[in-house]
Amino acid sequence: MAERLQKIIARAGIASRRAAEEMILNGRVTVDGQTITELGGKYDSSRQKICVDGKPLTLAEKKVYYLLNKPKGYLSTAKDERGRRTVLDLLPEVSERVYPLGRLDNNTEGLLIISNDGDLMNGLLHPRYKVNKTYVARVAGVPSEKLLDKLRQGIKLEDSMTAPAVVKMLETSDNEAKVEITIHEGRNRQVRRMFAAIGCDVRALKRVKFAGLTLKGVKRGHYRPLTDEEITELYKIAGIKQP
Ligand code: URA
Repeated sequence: MAERLQKIIARAGIASRRAAEEMILNGRVTVDGQTITELGGKYDSSRQKICVDGKPLTLAEKKVYYLLNKPKGYLSTAKDERGRRTVLDLLPEVSERVYPLGRLDNNTEGLLIISNDGDLMNGLLHPRYKVNKTYVARVAGVPSEKLLDKLRQGIKLEDSMTAPAVVKMLETSDNEAKVEITIHEGRNRQVRRMFAAIGCDVRALKRVKFAGLTLKGVKRGHYRPLTDEEITELYKIAGIKQP
């Protein structure tokens, strides 16, 4: 994101904005090797090398945290070499280098945390902390309670047994059912594979809860920043000290 040079210098913590203006006017600032002596120009600190008195600025990026309601058809990656849509296309105003916490399948929708706080993200993804994730699956057919008990007890997937899940039948109709399932593991396509293991095809899957956070108030394709209290709570869950 392009910003005024005095703002970038001030953010780097080496001078106030006013003092940074003086530095620029006095010819002490270069951008990509060129001395800048005017105040009006805008520059991009993530792409351009900015130096004061010949020393490059070290810019600690502000940590940002968002809760996104991912629609189907977006990849949970920061970039796609084939140019397909990614979840970051849904946050065009965010200039920090953010990425999604974990993955939802391309055809899964729902709650995804987006941040640039690597320490928190790693903590939350660590299996040790057993962070709960709740999904609503619309499945073909109506599975019996006996079948759902298999998911509750833990079921064998190709790799190994899953941990016990909390499973609740929400709705049934003639030929399909809506089932809520809470797991704390994060294996690849885990919920779809768990249902497949009891002979149920998942027609639609939505993550409705992650680490106590819900989609309340966030429409599909929209996002909101996390509150300070929510961030503090995530730090607690991840078992790391908040800086
Ligand atoms: N389980 C799945 O099968 N898919 C997801 O996207 C998330 C959990």
